Formats: sequence, structure tokens, C-alpha cells
Amino acid sequence: MSNNEKKYDVIVVGELNVDLILNKIDSFPEMGKEKLAQKMDLVLGSSSAIFASNLSSLGAKISFLGKVGDDSFGKLCVASLENKGVDTSNIIIDKKLKTGATIVLNYNNDRAMVTHPGSMEHLRTDEITEDKLKEAKHLHLSSPFLQPGLKNNLVNIFTKAKNLGLTTSLDTQWDPNEKWDLDLEELLPFVDVFLPNVQELILLTSEESIEAALNKIEKYANTVVVKMSEKGSLSMTNGERREVKAFLNTIVVDAIGAGDSFNAGFISKYIQGASIVECQTFGNLTGALNTTSTGGTSAFENIEKIKRVAEEKFKYQINGL
Ligand SMILES: Nc1ncnc2c1ncn2[C@@H]1O[C@H](COP(=O)(O)OP(=O)(O)OP(=O)(O)O)[C@@H](O)[C@H]1O
Ligand SMILES: [Mg+2]
Repeated sequence: MSNNEKKYDVIVVGELNVDLILNKIDSFPEMGKEKLAQKMDLVLGSSSAIFASNLSSLGAKISFLGKVGDDSFGKLCVASLENKGVDTSNIIIDKKLKTGATIVLNYNNDRAMVTHPGSMEHLRTDEITEDKLKEAKHLHLSSPFLQPGLKNNLVNIFTKAKNLGLTTSLDTQWDPNEKWDLDLEELLPFVDVFLPNVQELILLTSEESIEAALNKIEKYANTVVVKMSEKGSLSMTNGERREVKAFLNTIVVDAIGAGDSFNAGFISKYIQGASIVECQTFGNLTGALNTTSTGGTSAFENIEKIKRVAEEKFKYQINGL
């Protein structure tokens, strides 16, 4: 199948869960006591879903491949993605499983989070079939440390995608077990764009600085893009490093999902064949846009809002969308 005949621009393989966010809590939560929270939101969570949702808002055709339980949280995940135009026909609904949730307790400027992973731990490598991969031009996989059914088979999944002619990207996100046990030397040759943040890159390579980490993986990595929060991003392709400064946002609402929104902006340009610096600049823009509004998706409600805020806050005119 040629790229022009493909149904989707990107297939996103990843985890799905909901976030139950409690705000304006009376005082610090304590064991054995009941407190009241004045504000509550139940929203689509998970890094992969925020990425898929925002990339779809930026105009790409997306298919999501993940797993939920047959319950109200699962229905919320599917409906939220559909609402943003993401195709959900590849989401597997497993009656035996529960869709996971993260309970977020915001207090002052800090937060405590507890996650029940539920169905996200149950997506299996054999469910990522060639037939499904073949429908897309690009594979993005996120959060393998939360998905034990995929983590040890990443080389298999990425090789399969490359053999089918897809381009590929990976964001490992945090490892809750803090083992960071991925064999990058084996895996990265099949990953066209590797998208860690600074801390993740350092922990994954067991090095002490960004420079040492990049030197270590330079021999076998394709493009690496390191996300550096308010400092912007640094890329490395064929040994060439390019730093692109962040868009200055003086009023940050929160940075939840900034990395996923950066990925969405970067990949939206990458699949159009833009240069790495163009992709990086647009990723910095969408990362910064993310920080102008609550959570990971509210800055990306629709294309008009994206364009308006980009122009008003960052003097950036988005063309071609
Ligand atoms: N305060 C900020 N001001 C402007 N841009 C920002 C800010 N924070 C993040 N960004 C942009 O968003 C990008 C991604 O943010 P960050 O480095 O925090 O990713 P991350 O650690 O992977 O985030 P996440 O927790 O969502 O996974 C940055 O590279 C930058 O371009
Ligand atoms: Mg991240």
C-alpha cells in the first residue's frame, strides 16, 4: 500500500486511563480523616491519549491502539478521543479488565497522585498486528514502562513497523519501578525519533549529563529530541546538535502534558517531511501552548483556538493548518 492510500497518518500504540482531579482541598490530605475538595474534574488521562488527541486537533488522521475495560472510565476514554476525531476502532474492550485511573490531589502548588493501572498493563505485543500497522504511515509508541506486555518486545514491534515502511517515534516517559531497563543499543536503530526529557535520557543511559548521554547513543540513534521544559529542546541527528529555545510563557497555568503536546507538534511536522529544526520549533510552540491552559488537552480544543493563542501569546502565525 502506498502512503497516499493509507487510512491514517499515525497509529498511536499506548495506555489509556482517566484522571480524577481534586482541587481546592481544605487542607493537606491525611490518613484517617475526611477533607472536602471544592473542585473536581474527571478527564481523559494518559500520555498516549493526550498525544493522540492533540495531534488529531492539529489535523493529522489518527488511529489509537490500546485497551480498556467494559466500564464507564473506558467509555469516557473512547468518547473523549472520538470527540477529538481520533479513530477508536482499534481500541480493544476487554470485559474481564477495569480501565485504570489516576487520582490527583492538588494542594497548594504540589500534588499527590495514585494510579491504578488496570487495563493498560494488559495490551499484548501480538495484538499489534501487521494489518493494523499497515494502515498508517507512522507509528508512535508511548509509556512502555507502564505496559509490561509491550516493554520487552519493543524491538519486535518497531522492527515490524520499519519493515512495513512506517516511520517511527518513541517516548518512554517515566519508569515507576526506576529500573530504566531498556536496551537502547538494540532498540534505537529502529526508532526514527526518540523523544525523552532530560531526566529520562540521563536515567536511561546511566550517564550524568545530557552531553555524555548523547555521546553514548550517537552511534546507534537516529534523531534524538531532548525536552528541556522552559529551556526548550535539543536535537541530535547524525551527530549534529541543534538547540531551539522555548517560547516564553510568563503565565504558566500548569505543565501537565507539555511533553505530550511537544511530541504532537513535532510529529505533526515530521510526517509532513519538515526539517528537524522546523519540527522542534513547532514542538516548542505546542509545548508552550499546553502550559497556557489546564491539563494536557484544553489548549487544543480546536484549530481556531490553537491559532489564536499561538498568535496572541507567542506572536507565532500557524500557516497550512
Ligand atoms: N514553562 C514553559 N514555557 C514555555 N515552554 C515550555 C514550558 N514548559 C514546557 N515547555 C515546552 O514544552 C516542551 C516539553 O515540556 P517538558 O520538557 O516539561 O516535557 P516532559 O518532561 O516530557 O513533560 P511531561 O511531564 O508532559 O511528560 C519543552 O521542550 C518546551 O518546549
Ligand atoms: Mg514526558
